[in-house]
Amino acid sequence: MNPIFRARQGTNPDLSGIAQTKTRLEGINIVCIMSISTTFSEPPGNLLIMSDKKNKPWKFSLGSISDFNAMCAEIGCEIDAVEDTSSLAEPVMVNDLVIPNSLVVHPMEGCDGDRQGNPGKLTLRRYQRFAAGGAGLIWAEATAVVHEGRANPRQLWLNDNNKGAFADMVSMMRHHAAQSIATDHQPIIALQLTHSGRYSKPDGTSKPLIPQRDPYRDPLLPEPEPTATRTSKVDDSSVVTDEYLDNLQDAYVKAANLAYQAGFDAIDIKSCHGYLINELLSSRNRPGKYGGNFENRTRFLLEVIDKIKSELGDKIEICTRLGFYDALPYPFGWGVDEQDYTRCNLDEPKKLVKLLSQRGVRLINFTIGNPYYNPHVNRPFNQPAKNAYTEPEHPLKGVERLINLCGQMQKEFPEIAFVGTGYSWLKHLMPNIAAAAKIKGKAKLFGAGRLAFAYPDFARDILNTGTLDAKKVCIACSGCTQLMRDNHMTGCVIRDRKFYDAITGGKVT
Ligand SMILES: Cc1cc2nc3c(=O)[nH]c(=O)nc-3n(C[C@H](O)[C@H](O)[C@H](O)COP(=O)(O)O)c2cc1C
Ligand code: SF4
Repeated sequence: MNPIFRARQGTNPDLSGIAQTKTRLEGINIVCIMSISTTFSEPPGNLLIMSDKKNKPWKFSLGSISDFNAMCAEIGCEIDAVEDTSSLAEPVMVNDLVIPNSLVVHPMEGCDGDRQGNPGKLTLRRYQRFAAGGAGLIWAEATAVVHEGRANPRQLWLNDNNKGAFADMVSMMRHHAAQSIATDHQPIIALQLTHSGRYSKPDGTSKPLIPQRDPYRDPLLPEPEPTATRTSKVDDSSVVTDEYLDNLQDAYVKAANLAYQAGFDAIDIKSCHGYLINELLSSRNRPGKYGGNFENRTRFLLEVIDKIKSELGDKIEICTRLGFYDALPYPFGWGVDEQDYTRCNLDEPKKLVKLLSQRGVRLINFTIGNPYYNPHVNRPFNQPAKNAYTEPEHPLKGVERLINLCGQMQKEFPEIAFVGTGYSWLKHLMPNIAAAAKIKGKAKLFGAGRLAFAYPDFARDILNTGTLDAKKVCIACSGCTQLMRDNHMTGCVIRDRKFYDAITGGKVT
């Protein structure tokens, strides 16, 4: 067992208490019951404070590059940082698309659409801010292709009735990008298409749709270390049929067509984070044409891409956000060592990337882990969400894993532009570490997830000044994840308080 995965005993923040609020903000009515009374707060200066095994505060400074280098040496991490961040201004070519700089807004769900799947007012506000923020690629959030695959009743859902609403959102984004940055600034806009699989909650209650039973993930709870003995919350009736998957392929093709008509430059066939397509990749126990051997497990993703290509040709770029390592025991995990799930084995993910490359896929957003099950693998944090667990490893180890595994893939597939993930925890040093990764060929593009929630114009500041304002960055407090888990609309409870205080009842301190 790799010690970095062993859980530490630690206290979760006090997230008890109920607050109810009804507020009107800039034309947005928000009524909610919120269970945060909380301790999400920014530590003084640049100190990050964590608990170790004995709950003693673990303090370190993340002020300058030399502090960072010292921290890496102490923890035993290999991550480079450079002063000169100008390489992040370089454009990146993806087939015929020109991404005007190397900075990306990752897909980040706000859970703020309406019941019909249309973008809501907070959705539009978010994308307006991202568009005006200067990133070269804006990767719009998880958008369902069928109602039953929505992760919540407010998840965006692209369908025949709302193509116009999505088209208006794209036009609005192009307008704000040109107005705020430069008349010729044209960010690439991608849309992530999804089916939430095991995490489907289309009407607000859990209605899992899974490719196979899984003793680790069936209880639907986060775990620092997998256990196969917990009570399952799903049963065999949740397993989808081959016929369901055949029809679902057509739903993806239809949604891709609608996205093209709405004006998106690219569509992502989301294959990560434990959602349906990601789980199919490791469905070794599933009988039939979508389970068992590698060819069957990758069939769904590859056939969807082939069908979209045959319908739309090169009219729209096809990309994917691909999970490379589930950090779950074999045979349930994808990209894992058969003997030791704490180690990855990228043989199958590489085989898949080769097949994607042969189909002309030139843009892959790199990610690992599952935010519901092992969130520390997916998004290193300083403070856990309620019902999650304290980080079982130093979060910088998680950042290192994300950066360096992506580097392995980027080096092996130079024809593909990989988007690196996991940079938000690095706070104001994000551009210095991204620029070093760029120079070392560890990714061509660099994404901000939580950082973009906190600081939507992070790219503009990096491109104009070479740095980020330490007072605006994400502090990895899990407040936005908490909102999402509690079925609320989400955003940054620290840097966007004016809006999200309303959702939390003003209880964020
Ligand atoms: C509230 C929230 C919503 C997210 N929504 C999505 C999503 O829609 N699609 C996706 O692929 N990842 C989603 N993610 C994951 C992020 O894109 C990103 O991979 C993760 O936060 C790690 O990157 P970071 O360190 O820059 O935040 C979400 C993360 C959070 C916290
Ligand atoms: S973006 Fe999320 S994790 Fe980061 S500071 Fe804001 S609420 Fe906390």
